[in-house]
Amino acid sequence: MWIVPCAQPEDTRALGRALGESLAGPLCLSLEGDLGAGKTCFAQGAGDGLQVQEAVVSPTFVLVAEYEGRLPLLHADCYRLEAADAAGIGLEEALETWPGLALVEWAERLPGLLPLDHIQLRLNIAAPGRQVQIRAHGPRATAALAAWRAALGR
Ligand SMILES: Nc1ncnc2c1ncn2[C@@H]1O[C@H](COP(=O)(O)OP(=O)(O)OP(=O)(O)O)[C@@H](O)[C@H]1O
Ligand SMILES: [Mg+2]
Repeated sequence: MWIVPCAQPEDTRALGRALGESLAGPLCLSLEGDLGAGKTCFAQGAGDGLQVQEAVVSPTFVLVAEYEGRLPLLHADCYRLEAADAAGIGLEEALETWPGLALVEWAERLPGLLPLDHIQLRLNIAAPGRQVQIRAHGPRATAALAAWRAALGR
């Protein structure tokens, strides 16, 4: 597991930006953590890194947002989404075939939604300080994580 201290919002954003800049192909990420932990902040950094021109905003109400960038960005929020709704909008299939970066806030609420090959990112706000725990599951995720760490020089 890779643990990155992120004391300030800009640290969380920079972590996302480095992922966006280093990404070479399709990747899904589970963004986990309490309300206000910084999941959307991370997604905004990733949008920057992917050169998304449009402002990346919280998808809490729209559930799924898509943005054009160097690679396309999909940003979903499962906080208010039930499994039946996710199936209804075809989210699992969309994630499976998304050609760019797919970020899913609260993905842990719907086990099995993400492809097996994905990166799991847990944003912890508990004392002593904010930190992000990152785990790669599968070969594609492992390669993407290596490029991401290299971009940050870690
Ligand atoms: N180290 C930090 N990283 C990220 N955000 C931080 C940090 N410190 C303070 N913040 C603040 O915490 C808030 C994080 O909000 P954000 O919308 O990103 O959270 P979220 O995890 O997406 O919440 P939700 O579950 O409601 O969608 C922002 O107001 C941000 O400025
Ligand atoms: Mg959010």
